Amino acid sequence: MTTPVLTFFNNKGGVGKTSLIYHLAWMFANLHKQVVIADLDPQANLTAAFLDDERIDALWNNQATGSTLYRCVEPLADVSDITEPILQKITQNLHLLPGDVALSSFEDNLSTEWPRSMDDNNLHRPMRILTAFWQLMQIAANQVQADIILVDIGPNLGAINRSVLLGTDYVVIPLGADLFSLQGLSNLGPTLRRWRNQWKKRQDNWCDSKDSKKYSDFQLPGGRMEPVGYLCQQYSVRLDRPVQAYDRWVQRIPDTYREAILDAAPDTSIRQADDPYCLAIIKHYRSLIPMAQEHRKPIFSLTSADGAIGGHANAVSDAKKDFRLLAQKIAGKINLPV
Ligand SMILES: Nc1ncnc2c1ncn2[C@@H]1O[C@H](COP(=O)(O)OP(=O)(O)O)[C@@H](O)[C@H]1O
Ligand SMILES: [Mg+2]
Repeated sequence: MTTPVLTFFNNKGGVGKTSLIYHLAWMFANLHKQVVIADLDPQANLTAAFLDDERIDALWNNQATGSTLYRCVEPLADVSDITEPILQKITQNLHLLPGDVALSSFEDNLSTEWPRSMDDNNLHRPMRILTAFWQLMQIAANQVQADIILVDIGPNLGAINRSVLLGTDYVVIPLGADLFSLQGLSNLGPTLRRWRNQWKKRQDNWCDSKDSKKYSDFQLPGGRMEPVGYLCQQYSVRLDRPVQAYDRWVQRIPDTYREAILDAAPDTSIRQADDPYCLAIIKHYRSLIPMAQEHRKPIFSLTSADGAIGGHANAVSDAKKDFRLLAQKIAGKINLPV
């Protein structure tokens, strides 16, 4: 039994991806799910949302152990194997696999092993390295009997992200309403299809190899990468732009999603508001965002003691409803009982 991996991905940055994962992780935990969060973005913003600087400093300077995901894979760059990860406990049912700015240095190793994994023999090492993130996430999930693993990655189509995606069961795509997000969406679909096919070839190559008999209990991820839907950020609307500009880009999303992500025929008759692939429109939370960051909690857990009074208190309870609905919707799409 493996634990499902849900990755939030868009090769356009600044679309609210990290904030979304942070809030959904808390919401799934509130809904009594056991959650592991993996920060595989070398920017490590998600780690910074959960842990204070002192704690992060201690983790990053703790050279010898599996204190961050990078520290766990680092031995692979040498001749050793992965190190068992040490989870950071946030609450009883919320655990973090911390990110690390040093992670980007692993990109070269992954690029080198990618062609090697199509060789005729000696496949175990390349496959071990290419699937290291998935192996680590599964070990971590096992430690705490997790129901779901949520993953944050950087906004690019590089080797780290390819490695994360081949260990991903479900993909959620956060979008802004602008040209760059739509262009990102157009590039993402074909890339996911290519990675899925390339991984299938590698799985077949592995199955035909001597190594697969020799290492018979070595498990590989399925490379499913099933798109769950998209989220649209209302807050990315620039205040100096007319509302029509937002609407113009938003109305192009359903069609682009179908063409690029689903490889399906475009359907211009679908209005964005009726699109079943739209998981939610994310509101602009304004001053609640810095308030939540200051108190290191999700916006829907802010109290009057944190400063959420009057109109803020209403916005907090609306946010709670919105995120609960979103978590339930995603859970429904990935068959996770909540
Ligand atoms: N719903 C929201 N309302 C207002 N600001 C937001 C919202 N979500 C994210 N932000 C802000 O937008 C910026 C980018 O968000 P972030 O989650 O870091 O995006 P990404 O991970 O895609 O780069 C951050 O400063 C964040 O605080
Ligand atoms: Mg981010």
